[in-house]
Amino acid sequence: MKNTQLQRCIVESIEKKWWKESVVYQVYPRSFKDTNGDGIGDLKGITEKLDYIKKLGVDVIWLSPVNKSPNHDNGYDVSDYRDIMDEFGTMEDFNRLMREAHARELRIIIDLVVNHTSDEHQWFISAGSAKDNPYRDYYFFRPGRSASIPPNNWKSWFGGSAWEYDKRTGEFYLHLYSKHQPDLNWDNKKVRKEMYDIMRFWLDKGVDGFRLDIINYISKTAGLPDSNSDDEHRGKEFYLNGPKVHEYLREMNEEVFSRYDIVVVGEVEDVSPEEARKYVDFDRHELDMLLSWEHMYVDYGKNGTWDIKRWKLKELKNVLSQWQIALDEKGWNAQYLSSHDQPRQVSRFGDDGRYRIESAKMLATLIHTLKGTPFIYQGEEIGMTNIIFKEINECNDIHSIRMYNDEIKRGRDRNDLMKIINYRGRDNARTPMQWTGSKNAGFTEGDPWLQVNPNYRLINVDESLENRDSIFYYYMDLINLRKKNNTIVYGKYKQILEDDENIYSYVRSMENEVILVILNFGQDHCTFTLPEDIKCISCQLLLSNYEVTDTSIKRLTLRPYEARVYRLLSHRVKG
Ligand code: GLC
Ligand code: CA
Repeated sequence: MKNTQLQRCIVESIEKKWWKESVVYQVYPRSFKDTNGDGIGDLKGITEKLDYIKKLGVDVIWLSPVNKSPNHDNGYDVSDYRDIMDEFGTMEDFNRLMREAHARELRIIIDLVVNHTSDEHQWFISAGSAKDNPYRDYYFFRPGRSASIPPNNWKSWFGGSAWEYDKRTGEFYLHLYSKHQPDLNWDNKKVRKEMYDIMRFWLDKGVDGFRLDIINYISKTAGLPDSNSDDEHRGKEFYLNGPKVHEYLREMNEEVFSRYDIVVVGEVEDVSPEEARKYVDFDRHELDMLLSWEHMYVDYGKNGTWDIKRWKLKELKNVLSQWQIALDEKGWNAQYLSSHDQPRQVSRFGDDGRYRIESAKMLATLIHTLKGTPFIYQGEEIGMTNIIFKEINECNDIHSIRMYNDEIKRGRDRNDLMKIINYRGRDNARTPMQWTGSKNAGFTEGDPWLQVNPNYRLINVDESLENRDSIFYYYMDLINLRKKNNTIVYGKYKQILEDDENIYSYVRSMENEVILVILNFGQDHCTFTLPEDIKCISCQLLLSNYEVTDTSIKRLTLRPYEARVYRLLSHRVKG
């Protein structure tokens, strides 16, 4: 068989899917583009910017929740799953956004928050009205140990007890997030059926899939036992990857997902790479990929979220590599460094000062050349950075505000707390998208719901589009490269120089093509030496964030945050 024929055969034996070859762009609608001057981004704003998103070269848009919500957690508290949030517009606006996206060959996936509802959802309002209300069992209502002691000692992810006393019936209800987000009881068949109906409602409308919010929380251990742990999230061992989660996901897949050509991405916490296999193994028919948090924990100290530790490259390499290996043959990874829940990646893993542009490009190279579907979070493609808030009243995020108030009561210093929030807080990612260098960064004509990062005069879309060396065009080149190169999409991953503390390097290979990625994660120059077992007669540079003149890669001096992607050849290239 000729080489090309052989190649074709092998490629065909890999399970090819459109969503494996795609790049996803996450839009946080509240902060994307306001069109009516109320200071809040809206659906019309997204429609207006579709050509911009398309220009980047992505294939799929993930919309953070657009369902009706009182916005205690910015849409992650849904009061009506079949309606659109008032501030974002109408169902007609949604339909138009979808039509316009599809006309540009952009798919739309929506965020569905199914572990909990808003406390303003009709089900919860009914459930709380009487102990024998038919909706009571949609949630977890339990008598307290006394009027002031909750049924168990679990903690909420946003701080404090996971139970709230409901004086309407004198019982407590469970909320793993804020008290405005009561947990649904997935053991109740009716709840599952309601959710499958809601999913079908959106799929029949034409959406191309879902991002399922914290989907590995949905099955709680019967009896809701007390926990002995002193973890920040005490009780999590009784619901993370709970006893029936796989059973429910298989049912969901059979009832809903398997009937459509869609992609389903599950957000999960505390899932090991081995556990991940159970969710995404093709043969198990549950989910397509996971947005895992594990690599995000590299800078968490032993006291959790608000305890910040210096992260080490070796740890990051290690986590990412383990996921690459565990999901290599069966399963698929999602790759990201940013989202609406994370600080800005260039501030966290790169350098948002002197080397902002170089480091933003280097980090992008990582996400787009690992095996897995890359996820870009709005603004990442122009190198948006964290913001500095001086006072807590400038913040909006329920999580940061709750932590601040709790810690102030314990006597912690204000400035220390603001420092922590400015590093870790979710509002860093939620400041308005920076479109132009003029007032409010072109995001709104009114007063923005969250302040615009003052660096918008330097960092904005207009500037990026005018300059061919910008981060934006580098993303475009990366996306193009991945599109044209099956090895980057489907090839095997192998890390090299594992022990190097500054360089992250790996090869991706398929049949006789080998791609080498070299990333300097530091501000200093460093030396890369090609391991002897990697055969390379000559090489071809595919992409770099610096001008490159080297002709051999046996030994290279890498500049601060330098990234290079090579094709290794077993023959000499001419010229
Ligand atoms: C997920 C969301 C986050 C939200 C939480 C509760 O982690 O990404 O924004 O606060 O779930 O719904
Ligand atoms: Ca608006």
